[in-house]
Amino acid sequence: MAANVKVMISEERVNQRIKELAEQISKDYEGKSVHLICILKGSVFFSCDLAKRITVPVTLDFMSVSSYGNEKVSSGRVRILKDLDESIQGKNVLIVEDIIDSGRTLSYLMDLLSTRSPESIEICTLLDKPERRVTDVKVKYVGFEIPDEFVVGYGLDHEQYLRNLPYVGVVE
Ligand code: IMP
Ligand code: MG
Repeated sequence: MAANVKVMISEERVNQRIKELAEQISKDYEGKSVHLICILKGSVFFSCDLAKRITVPVTLDFMSVSSYGNEKVSSGRVRILKDLDESIQGKNVLIVEDIIDSGRTLSYLMDLLSTRSPESIEICTLLDKPERRVTDVKVKYVGFEIPDEFVVGYGLDHEQYLRNLPYVGVVE
């Protein structure tokens, strides 16, 4: 796929911010372990880089979800394509997401996972588009707030391509 991509957040800034987030998380979870839930596929790159820099014990699990029907008129219901492998009962769960847009996906996931008796549950997202929010969702860790533009790279795709860009960019 040939596409012209303009850098929005450079690789250096992404790396630096992930380091800061990991330091904050390591401090907040001191004396505990943290169970990272990587939301496939977009948050794979972010989850790996974040996990490597967290200094408290880390366990990992993966979940794959997709919005029902046309995302633009999403009912807010989410279809689970792949559920977690392990129980989260009694664990300090940290959901790791690439981007929060309308907030529907995470709002649904928070409600669902909260019913499974975790010790605690929080969200960490690399990117946040606050202008687009339609559902209130409590996000503890945000990498970058960005304007309402469609971004790619660092896990985010345009029709499945461009996830492997090492920076966050905008398709021109
Ligand atoms: P939400 O439920 O509207 O918050 O949807 C979040 C999901 O929409 C993300 O996990 C992405 O898969 C997708 N998404 C939202 N904005 C973008 C973008 O700018 N680029 C790529 N994917 C996006
Ligand atoms: Mg996603």
